[in-house]
Amino acid sequence: MSVALNTKHLSSFISEEEYAAIYPQVEAAHNQLEAKSGPGNDFLGWMYLPRDYDKEEFARIKEAAAKIREDSDVLVVAGIGGSYLGARAVIEAVKGQFHNELENGLKIYFCGNSISPTYLNNIISLCKGKRFSINVISKSGTTTETSLAFRVLRELLEKEMGVEEANKRIYATTDRRKGALKALADQAGYETFVVPDDIGGRYSVLTAVGLLPIAVAGVDICRLMEGAETMMEVCAKTDMAENPAWQYAAARYELYRTGKKIEVLAAYEPSFRFMAEWWKQLYGESEGKEHKGLFPASVEFTADLHSMGQYIQQGERSLFETVVRFGASHRPQVVPLDETDGDGLNFLAGKDVDFIRTQAMDGTLLAHVEGGVPNIILRTGQINAFTLGELIYFFEYACGLSGYLLDVNPFDQPGVEAYKKNMFALLGKPGYEALRQELAEKLHRA
Ligand code: PA5
Repeated sequence: MSVALNTKHLSSFISEEEYAAIYPQVEAAHNQLEAKSGPGNDFLGWMYLPRDYDKEEFARIKEAAAKIREDSDVLVVAGIGGSYLGARAVIEAVKGQFHNELENGLKIYFCGNSISPTYLNNIISLCKGKRFSINVISKSGTTTETSLAFRVLRELLEKEMGVEEANKRIYATTDRRKGALKALADQAGYETFVVPDDIGGRYSVLTAVGLLPIAVAGVDICRLMEGAETMMEVCAKTDMAENPAWQYAAARYELYRTGKKIEVLAAYEPSFRFMAEWWKQLYGESEGKEHKGLFPASVEFTADLHSMGQYIQQGERSLFETVVRFGASHRPQVVPLDETDGDGLNFLAGKDVDFIRTQAMDGTLLAHVEGGVPNIILRTGQINAFTLGELIYFFEYACGLSGYLLDVNPFDQPGVEAYKKNMFALLGKPGYEALRQELAEKLHRA
């Protein structure tokens, strides 16, 4: 197992007794998940997914990925929220943020996650004149941002390649039976992949939602699933000492109970940025309801030590940090010796950048804890498909536990609908006429 928690730096904030007092509640939350007896229990398909996934579809995903790599210069992935963050997170973590620039061959771009003409135009420019394919991902099949981007890109693809060829280059990941995208795909004959009924968007990275783009990027999806399965077995253990998801859920819940309202996920690795975005969605959407829940924030160290570091060190004491520490980088970089030592850095000559980073991590840890910021350290192995599979499952399981500890349904997102209703009304979508009138009056008064 390569996810391990160090909670030593919580000792001046929560006592051993307080921590131990949570154990029975964590065990009860675990039992609710295992017995499928808690709220949202029809959305637990992610729990045994790393073992029980659809092997036939998995094989089709690999075939489609190979075809896309063969016949395309660009893959555009259209999706938002749970229908995009996981794929981007894994690709960037494993391949680095510059994978498109550094690697020959296929480029991957994400769209459908904003409402921006500039962004859409940029994506069009990146596709125009290239052999491109589209993976449109939407469980509901009706999400405005995704549908909008898909409509624009589909038109471009059809114009450039003809309808028949375009239809062979569009891959739709959506509901098995219903929704506008499913109907469109069936009608046009796009190859389709399924978002299972019992898996919500933010828990779907290990389904075709994440797996197809991840495989196209050349990341080993078998290793990703193996890592997740390994962690699935660890998270099934009913012993606090052996289950890091129990430890994490207990620590963050106790910190929340004793007044911390913000959890800052920190990593000293720029390529982890989208993993943090994925984590924010997972925890924010799962816990933030009924006026409860930790606010999930993220920072990228050491860059943000030069900005948010000030607030973390001396601002309001309502936050704690969860710091993800990876094993040594697989591409070491040693500091060169400079005879003139004009920059005064020769005291680091011959040292590996990983070593320097470790000192930054240790120094920051001590400073932040002394400044009143509890730190949970989450150690994992070297970044690769396997360790990311482990980490994804670890966070998912701990999130389910955390929701039940808070006594909320961690698998719904009723709050997301509020903005959509208003936007549809303001856009004049049929069926929203009365609300449109009401909102127009409110805006007029404002
Ligand atoms: O977690 C969720 O359910 C959301 O973030 C969805 O993934 C997001 O809203 C996109 O929805 P859909 O896949 O239906 O387009």
